[in-house]
Amino acid sequence: MSTRFDLDGRKALVTGASRGIGRAVARAFAQAGADVAVVARSTDELQELAAEVERAGRRAVVLTCDVTEEEQIRDAVSEAIDALGCLDVLANVAGGTPTAGPFVELPMVAWQRDMRLNFESVLHFCRAAGPHLLQRGTGSVISVSSVAGMAGAPSRSTIAVSKAAVIALTRTLGAEWAAAGVRVNAILPGWTTTAETAVVRANEQVSAGLIHAVPMRRWGTPEEIADSAVYLAGDASSMVTGSCLTIDAGVSAYVGGPTLLDLLAYGRLG
Ligand SMILES: NC(=O)c1ccc[n+]([C@@H]2O[C@H](COP(=O)([O-])OP(=O)(O)OC[C@H]3O[C@@H](n4cnc5c(N)ncnc54)[C@H](OP(=O)(O)O)[C@@H]3O)[C@@H](O)[C@H]2O)c1
Repeated sequence: MSTRFDLDGRKALVTGASRGIGRAVARAFAQAGADVAVVARSTDELQELAAEVERAGRRAVVLTCDVTEEEQIRDAVSEAIDALGCLDVLANVAGGTPTAGPFVELPMVAWQRDMRLNFESVLHFCRAAGPHLLQRGTGSVISVSSVAGMAGAPSRSTIAVSKAAVIALTRTLGAEWAAAGVRVNAILPGWTTTAETAVVRANEQVSAGLIHAVPMRRWGTPEEIADSAVYLAGDASSMVTGSCLTIDAGVSAYVGGPTLLDLLAYGRLG
């Protein structure tokens, strides 16, 4: 029996599909019945994933592309449409946090690099795929932002600003493309176990400190983020557009500091 979470026969393009969250999203889309065009720079990893998808009975198209290069993005989108016949879903997952450090010490070149990777890549994919989606009058765009784009991120200003720009673009296109039948949403992950966070997780003290500020007191997995992408890709979210879905174990729900129970336990109240 099919459900509104099925993606049977849908055609999806997923960036950042060579590892981490993007790989989990491409896999989850295929498991839900979609054919996928998988995009990243690491061709070997993409081919491995494509073989896995094809073994599971779905089509996979490997597209090697540097998402900081506009021309390569345009080529990837048009090759995906040619190979799959059309595009129903665009999942912008590629990104990262190459720079951390005090704001006053960041060189402009770091800002340019991070804005290009985290924001302009999403912008160019939307520019390249938008006319096709609008002309068909259907489609779902999903961009992976971050909880860092919702609040301040001290010493990580480039990620905060680049991911906030993804949120602003999502809300704007969500409203602008709604009447044309194209939905645009963002996923805002919290701390997730990928290569991106490997260095942090390798340091027990730092990892414990970070997780102490997470209400669920744990890391998230790429698969938990991917489930929300399946929801946003298909009919289960047919009324959802311009939304930002936080998948963050509660991080953004709580301002931090001791809870009322902590204070009572310490005898500081009453
Ligand atoms: N992990 C977290 O805690 C966390 C939290 C919030 C948001 N996010 C966001 O989630 C997304 C996925 O991150 P992740 O944690 O899964 O990181 P990851 O494991 O490091 O994967 C990053 C992906 O992006 C691709 N990528 C990076 N630069 C690229 C480029 N120039 N051209 C093409 N592809 C490129 C990588 O592929 P190649 O290297 O093969 O090109 C890889 O597939 C990112 O947008 C990240 O900002 C992650």
